[in-house]
Amino acid sequence: MRINPAVRDCPTAPIAEAWSWVADVPAAELIDVCQAEPAELPAQALRDHVAQTLAAGGAAKYTGIAGLGPLREALAEDIRSHYGGSVEASDVMITAGCNQAFCATIDALCAPGDEVILPLPFYFNHQMWLAIRGIHAKYARYDPQSAQPDVEDIRRLISARTRALVLVTPNNPTGAVYPPECIAELYRLAEASGIALIIDETYRDFMAVGQVPHALFGQSGWRDHFVHLYSFSKTYSLTGYRVGAVVAGDALREALIKVQDCAVICAPHAGQLAALYGLQHLQAWKRDNVASVVARATALRRAFSNPSLKFELLSAGAFFAYVQHPFEASARDAAQRLARAFGVISLPGSYFGPDQERYLRFAFANLAENRFGELVERLISSQS
Ligand SMILES: Cc1ncc(COP(=O)(O)O)c(C=O)c1O
Repeated sequence: MRINPAVRDCPTAPIAEAWSWVADVPAAELIDVCQAEPAELPAQALRDHVAQTLAAGGAAKYTGIAGLGPLREALAEDIRSHYGGSVEASDVMITAGCNQAFCATIDALCAPGDEVILPLPFYFNHQMWLAIRGIHAKYARYDPQSAQPDVEDIRRLISARTRALVLVTPNNPTGAVYPPECIAELYRLAEASGIALIIDETYRDFMAVGQVPHALFGQSGWRDHFVHLYSFSKTYSLTGYRVGAVVAGDALREALIKVQDCAVICAPHAGQLAALYGLQHLQAWKRDNVASVVARATALRRAFSNPSLKFELLSAGAFFAYVQHPFEASARDAAQRLARAFGVISLPGSYFGPDQERYLRFAFANLAENRFGELVERLISSQS
């Protein structure tokens, strides 16, 4: 059998590769800042609710393609209260996680040979999916000091083949939050150019309390230009339940329904019930969970201010810190050495785009705050 060259030539899934470096190291000796997985289990009440529902025979059937009505309604309500503006249940399609939301959105918008703009550094699964689908990713410059996208470079990259601009804010891998004014400017650019502005907001709940990510849902024409992607994975510690969402206008959603029907038919029913329970009953739990992740970012900054440390913290927020390593080595070699010799599993910047060899990504939200000192000690040991 012949493998599709676009898939064969796509780099190996980064997380799996990073774990292969430490296959023979006992898990207890590792500091895992590799994959963004919340350190906490889901709330006990949510686990009990799902267990009881499944034991009673619930969630065994498909749901509608767009997902459970009450969940779509609850998410629309959550978005209105978070962002303001106008969002209805009919704008929401529930997906099997935010990655599948992105894949479905790209499939609905783009044909092979089309172009999609990804500001650097990109989220690797976005770039991989575009490569697999034969869609050309155009990388826009960013400012390494502020980790903000370069709007003029994005403008320059828009061509007749461009179908979408993709933002991730709060960002993976840098943790940077893009200011609402920057997002508004990019929205106007997308509107004027007739392309979609897709924003992956997987980490939107992990911003400072009261910080509104953007005002796009208040734009009267948002449904024609803007696509919001969401994940329940990190907010409710549900990574394995596979629930996310696309929020978009009618034309795109009609196309998405076809893609979704072929790919998964519906998001996992049990996951949808868990997400609904979270939205309806766990807002206090969510606030505590978010507060502990935000506090972790502050603790990480404190830990990195150690004067003996030659790793420079460039930006940190949500689940991630983007760090400049001190070695005369590629990012991959630096990450591999840290993993094998010092038990610290991070991801090399090179997974997030060209010219990222100086950087490593630490998914610090995985790690209990009381282990940050140990992380910094191991990094200092690696310097000699
Ligand atoms: C930016 C971004 N989008 C999507 C995902 C995947 O989310 P989900 O578990 O909902 O598929 C991740 C996970 O790390 C992510 O960082």
